[in-house]
Amino acid sequence: NILLFFIINMKSTVIACSNIAFVKYWGKLDKSKNIAMNSSISMTLDENLSTKTTVEFSKEFKEDILILNNEKYSDNKLLRVSNFLDIIRQKAKVDLFAKVISINSFPTGTGIASSASGFSALAAASTKALGLTLTNEELADYARLGSGSASRSIFGGFVLWDSEHCHQIKDEKHWDKLRDIIVIVSSVEKKISSRAGMKKTVDTSTKYKQRLTKVGKTIEVVQNAIIKKDFETLAINIMKDSDNMHECMFDTEPSLVYLNDTSNKIKEVVNKLNKNKIIAAYSFDAGPNAHIITRQENVELITRELLKIFGVQVVVSKPGQGIKYSDDHLF
Ligand code: PMV
Repeated sequence: NILLFFIINMKSTVIACSNIAFVKYWGKLDKSKNIAMNSSISMTLDENLSTKTTVEFSKEFKEDILILNNEKYSDNKLLRVSNFLDIIRQKAKVDLFAKVISINSFPTGTGIASSASGFSALAAASTKALGLTLTNEELADYARLGSGSASRSIFGGFVLWDSEHCHQIKDEKHWDKLRDIIVIVSSVEKKISSRAGMKKTVDTSTKYKQRLTKVGKTIEVVQNAIIKKDFETLAINIMKDSDNMHECMFDTEPSLVYLNDTSNKIKEVVNKLNKNKIIAAYSFDAGPNAHIITRQENVELITRELLKIFGVQVVVSKPGQGIKYSDDHLF
């Protein structure tokens, strides 16, 4: 280890972006390996929705340290990070504690998947800091162990997670006119984590069993719509899949409700805008915030309508790049 200490720089910084699933992941087949019940497809977002993380391993540290958005954590969040780092330490055969400083460009725990950008940045920064050379596919396998959706954020553009491994379908330049208008409804932490929520759905929902029989077809349709840049087919299926996941959540015992009145108002606005021609698709994860997928030419009109809803904030994202290494460390 002493030799290792001198050969490699034990510090690394990575910027990773969040992603929005067009076909959602909700439920694990294998809990320890984070293998999903079904495949999912996502678009990686841009740096407006990103996490920057610096990781350093050093014999100076007597325990793992986690500072997230300028706040030091010693609770479950630190435990989750430490457990993840244990996997990387084991792989690199290194026995040193780490300091992790991380900054999100958006509020944590809002259903804008901060765990996706967070764990993909952590996976890339921690492995690089320990001198491991991994392909992006291998890196995605590690990120998945931190958070399922994080595996997709390793790659830019449009990504398929085939329930185990991740692959890029098309890069961020393929459909550069596509946009995600993120409507922030609430920046309060969600009450039921996706991890706990999806387990309950798998265990108790009958609608969920039906979902699993159909989602393979949706994957095929959405993947083709991306390749052909067929907006209407994409939009219809994004909304169907989001609605279906939330129906399964509602069908869970006890019922899981992540949307609120404002989320439902957003759905109404989108349905109205789509009356004559489909120009927008709503998609909701495990929280009340909305993602509105549209084409660049409609962003202005849609944003204007959305901002009429009381109290919402809007961030617009293009298809984004995968993880980026940086020399501009946070400490
Ligand atoms: O990977 P997690 O635990 O953040 O779960 C993500 C689940 C959803 O965001 C609701 C869907 C998805 O595929 O991103």
